[in-house]
Amino acid sequence: MKVLITREIPQAGLKVLEIYKDRIEVDYRQGPPLSQTELKHAIKDADAIIPVIPDDINADVMAAADVLKIIATYSVGYDHIDVAKATEKGIFVGNTPGNLTEAVAEHAMALALSLGRRIPEADRYCRAGKYKYWDPMLFIGPKFTGKTLGLIGFGRIGQNFAKLARFGFNMRILYNDPISHPEAESLLDAEKVELDVLLGNSDIVSVHCNLTDESCGMIGEQELKKMKPLSYLINTARGPIINEEALITALKEGWIAGAALDVFEDEPKIKPELIKLDNVVLSPHIASATWEARIQMSRMAAENVVDVLINKKPPRYLVNKDLAQSTITSIS
Ligand code: DGY
Repeated sequence: MKVLITREIPQAGLKVLEIYKDRIEVDYRQGPPLSQTELKHAIKDADAIIPVIPDDINADVMAAADVLKIIATYSVGYDHIDVAKATEKGIFVGNTPGNLTEAVAEHAMALALSLGRRIPEADRYCRAGKYKYWDPMLFIGPKFTGKTLGLIGFGRIGQNFAKLARFGFNMRILYNDPISHPEAESLLDAEKVELDVLLGNSDIVSVHCNLTDESCGMIGEQELKKMKPLSYLINTARGPIINEEALITALKEGWIAGAALDVFEDEPKIKPELIKLDNVVLSPHIASATWEARIQMSRMAAENVVDVLINKKPPRYLVNKDLAQSTITSIS
């Protein structure tokens, strides 16, 4: 059986697969991203694929796969996979939930602090040899302690960020989520509010929901206009949740004070206007990039593959739950 791994990932997952080397052959691509044509070619005889976020696993790619049984993405998000098509074809989709929670929450906090305390700007200033004398008015930003954090999406990552903010900075926590989270509410003194209320009352708004048809473009002109003029917008979730054109106008016209983005509407492309703005902090989709998180992600993706190919059961971190009862009879 063949497992296609589309990019270099930490060794942990490869070690899991190596245990079954008499039955599993690994096609390990460590170079630049595969084009759609290369992907279709490589997936043809693969029983399993471990793709990464930029791999577009759409209906066409699945049609090119003759024996594919599992798509074990090296990510928690799965908006790069046509899950409905996979389910229709009886292909399992597995992901790597949970282990990157702290990493992403820490990165969201790092972005908020960098933006507010203007660290990238100050760094550029020092490197440019501009620090000639101490200036009492240089790079002043807000205090974070005691301010209000508004979380759009209050799942594992949102709640973790709330913990850092609540216990580290004594911040008030507001959240907007279709689901109520009473336990986290009492632990964190958090309040579930309508989106408008969150936008109008938060000093930092941070996005932590999945990208879905409903959340795509949910932060646009109207929403940005509801935010406080001194507030910051952070996005470590998925780029298309924020309308970037509207955000650029908001940043230029001072509807909000700044934005920090780890994800972009048309990744890896970043709009040139965003790059020019000083009240923006950018990072290249690295919120989950701690060794701890990435090693675990690698292991979990491989475990998903082993569950299906060797243990002949659905992957332990199953996305398309409709297939939970599937019996795997066709795997030899
Ligand atoms: C994910 O896993 O979905 C993150 O965006 C990248 O690790």
